[in-house]
Amino acid sequence: MARIVILTGAGLSAESGLGTFRDKDGLWTRYALEDVATPEGFARDPALVMAFYNARRANMVAAAPNAAHRALARLEAARPGEIRIITQNVDDLHERAGSRAVWHMHGELARARCAACGAVWPAPAQMRPADACPDCAAAATRPDVVWFGEYPYHMEAIWEALRAAELFVSIGTSGQVFPAAALVQDAARAGAETLELNLEPSEVSRDFEETRLGPATELVPAWVAEILAG
Ligand code: APR
Repeated sequence: MARIVILTGAGLSAESGLGTFRDKDGLWTRYALEDVATPEGFARDPALVMAFYNARRANMVAAAPNAAHRALARLEAARPGEIRIITQNVDDLHERAGSRAVWHMHGELARARCAACGAVWPAPAQMRPADACPDCAAAATRPDVVWFGEYPYHMEAIWEALRAAELFVSIGTSGQVFPAAALVQDAARAGAETLELNLEPSEVSRDFEETRLGPATELVPAWVAEILAG
């Protein structure tokens, strides 16, 4: 079971050019999340939602992992079996940087899901709601992304990992969405040390023993160097 559990958010991918949600020009300042990130929004206008996710997937494909993603992959390679990443991000930059022990609690842009039978498959560049499911043939394709009001992926495994963690590190998240924002409390209750690396104080900075402020591409490589020197 991993000794170090790392929660990442949109701030980790910000320096790769992928927008965050709640910063000054964030996604939720340009789109109504009710329209593009809820089951009701998808039922109301599936084409609008698909266009939103197709555009975000194209941005993801054009982006590259940054020094923070690469530092986390270096840490995992140097400490096999000791690192677990829980990401709120739906991009694949952790994996493209080389991380393997990654759970996407909010799903993945790179995958499509059948709303009828739950099958998942690699998302095509232009996903359409009427695309037939390769398993059950239903024309019920949706992004494999967890919307508001839906239950996140991997929660049982996440809570089990937190019970065994010695160190919980949060990187690049505003701490405004649950249950991700409460994971630090679960870790602290289980006796883990807690560290937050973020550009600015978050809604849950008070729950961390230590908060370091700055860009992820500076804070994360420095923190990884500390761990590897330890
Ligand atoms: N380095 C480090 N942190 C950064 C950087 C950076 N370069 N740029 C921004 N940040 C920080 C911001 O200060 C903010 O605290 O990243 C955080 C981004 O917060 P949000 O935009 O709210 O993103 P996140 O916390 O990941 O959102 C959580 O909300 O909409 C849902 O499902 C969506 O997974 C998402 C969830």
